[in-house]
Order: sequence, then C-alpha cells, then structure tokens
Amino acid sequence: MKTGGHLKKLLQPLYPDMIRRRRYLHQHPELSFQEAKTSQWIASELRSMGCEVQEGVGGYGIVATIKGHLPGPVVALRADMDALPIQDEKTCEYASKVPGIMHACGHDGHTAALLAVAEYYQGGKDQLAGERRLLFQPAEELTPGGAEPMMKAGALEGADVIYGVHLWSPLPYGQASTKPGPFMAAADEFTIDITGLGGHGGMPHKTVDAIIVGSAIVQAAQSIVSRNVNPLQPAVVTIGSFQAGSANNVIAERCQLKGTVRTFDAETRAYVHERLKATIEHICGMYGASWEIDYRFGYPPVVNDETEADRFFRTAPELFEGGVVRAEAIMVAEDFSYYLEKLPGCFMFVGAGNAETGASYAHHHPRFDIDERAMIDAASLLVAMAEHYSTEWPSEGLDTL
Ligand code: NI
Repeated sequence: MKTGGHLKKLLQPLYPDMIRRRRYLHQHPELSFQEAKTSQWIASELRSMGCEVQEGVGGYGIVATIKGHLPGPVVALRADMDALPIQDEKTCEYASKVPGIMHACGHDGHTAALLAVAEYYQGGKDQLAGERRLLFQPAEELTPGGAEPMMKAGALEGADVIYGVHLWSPLPYGQASTKPGPFMAAADEFTIDITGLGGHGGMPHKTVDAIIVGSAIVQAAQSIVSRNVNPLQPAVVTIGSFQAGSANNVIAERCQLKGTVRTFDAETRAYVHERLKATIEHICGMYGASWEIDYRFGYPPVVNDETEADRFFRTAPELFEGGVVRAEAIMVAEDFSYYLEKLPGCFMFVGAGNAETGASYAHHHPRFDIDERAMIDAASLLVAMAEHYSTEWPSEGLDTL
C-alpha cells in the first residue's frame, strides 16, 4: 500500500462516488438513534463493493471488515452518520429534503470518505497487511452516544489501534490538525431544583426565598473554577438557565438552574462534580431550603495517544498542501473518546472551510457546508495513518528486540 502524495492520486478516482454518496446522505438526514435508513443504505453500498458487513452493531452501527492477504495489525477506522434537528437554509440542489433535520456537522462527509476507504482497501486486498475494521457509528450528537454500544457489541474486539477524523469548517481546506493528549472536553450537564417556602412579598420573614438561594448558588458556583480547581487545569462551569418566580409581590417557592461542566481530565471532572454538590448542600442548609440535583455525565474527554498523535505529525504533512497545525484543545465534546479509553489512537481535524464554496459557516449552523474536496483529504489521512502504523507493526515486538 502506498502512502503520501501517491495515496491522494489513488483515491482521486473515488471522488465522484464520494460526492454522490455525501449528497445523497445530505438530502436524506436522520437524527441520532433513528438512523435506520442511513444504516441500511451504508450496508448496501458496502455490499455492492463486496465487503463483509455486520449490521445492527450496538443499534444502527455497521462494521465492515476487510482482511488482507498479508499478516499485519487490525486497524479500526471510524465515521459517524447522524444529523441534527436544524432546518437546512441552503438553497443548493443537495439541500436536505427532510424538514427540520440536516447534516450540519459534516457526518455525511465522514461516512462518504470512509466508504471510499472501504472501496480502496477492498480493491487492494493482495497487498493489504492485516485487517481494516471500518466502524460506521450512529448517534454521535446525542448522549449517551453510539460509540459505547458499538464497543459493548464487540466492534473493537482484537483491534490494535483506532483513527477518526472530523471535517472542520473553522480550518481552511488543505490543512489538518490535532494535538497529543487532551484534545476535546468532557461535557456533563446538570439540573438543580431548589425548594424554599413561598409567601407574600411583604412578609419575607415567613418565607424561604428560592430566588435568593438560587442566586447564592450561581455566585458560589463561579468560585469552583477560580478557587478550587488547579489553575493549570482547564474547566468551565456554566449556568445557562435560571427559572423562578411569577409575580412582583410573591416570594418564589421554587427555583430551577440548568448548566454544563466542561473539563479535560477525570480527576478535575470528579472534583467539580463534588464541589458543586457541596456548594449546593451548604447554601441550601444555610437558608433552610431543600434541593435535588440531576447530574448527567456526558462523553469523557478525547485524549489522543502521544505516539499516535506523533504519527499524524510525521504522516500528514505530505498530504496537506496547506500544512499541518498543532491544534489547541477545544471545549467541544465527541464520543470518539470512548474508543480512545480502550485503544491507542488519534482523532484528527481535516480542514473543510472555504468561503468561495460557501463553506464558511460554523458547525451546527443552518447554512453549514463543507468544501467537498476535504473528503479526499479525510480518506487519504485515514489510509495514511493505518498504513504507517502497519509498517511499524508489531511495535511492541520491535521494542523488546
Ligand atoms: Ni460532529
């Protein structure tokens, strides 16, 4: 198998199919955990190439297995397939045909790129060393996500390493980026319900004012990051909703706060949770209010393996004319994190932004689009990483020689 510049040339003939598939998916988007037709369609595309396909892996997940004729590692490559509850505002011919649902994050492009990877490997089994396991994953956009169920169903059994890409519109077409270690945040959500004692606005001494209690919690919660968390560990505590009260002269009995916590490591994540609960408990105790918290742990942080991120910086420069960038960590979450908890691997951004082709909107924007050429980049990068890993396999054996 070839790497580098040759690779892009080899994948180029598959570009018309990438466009056809991406545009089909773009017109027929489905929401997370509801990707029945998308999943069926992906399976039939894979079968038409002659791939060995497993359907219904942890929900609507699909695993395509391509076994080479030479000995080598099992390399897993992943694409997600779900869309978002957003009305497509684009006017192009491939705009979404489903009211209120659109591929506003590029997952259609991920799927089309990985289908091209399947076609590429399927046609080159004689030279392929080991196995390539292609994971088409549903439900990335909605916790608890589709990654964990696919793993529980055995999708990564026997795999040595995993790679994934996200087409990224803030990054110009022609560039790619990632970073070693913590790359994307853990995102948790909470709802706090405070119950005081309602009463007359003119007789506060007979009440427990839930608005006063809620306000004190909002204020105190801000000191968790500034005074409890190590300043060298990034963390965010945001309270984005405060609902209480109904009239000028009525003291509110109830107050509901909703928020999110973003962190990059397990220790800080657990600590913020613990401090938030302690803050609520003591403030409510002080005012004589009762409380409940519904704290939902979302995806863990995406932590790239150091060796695999290094492989990206050794492999990707030949593929990207615009250059390769060392990314900053970002506070967005991704369920690729579950795979990286089990296997070494790397999650990478492939530049898909281009104002000239209309691909200048942020992810999850109603006019989001990609520069479609980025799909060739994404497919080439996945293959290049897999083949580079393969040439250094078995790394453990080499270490001990
Ligand atoms: Ni996405």
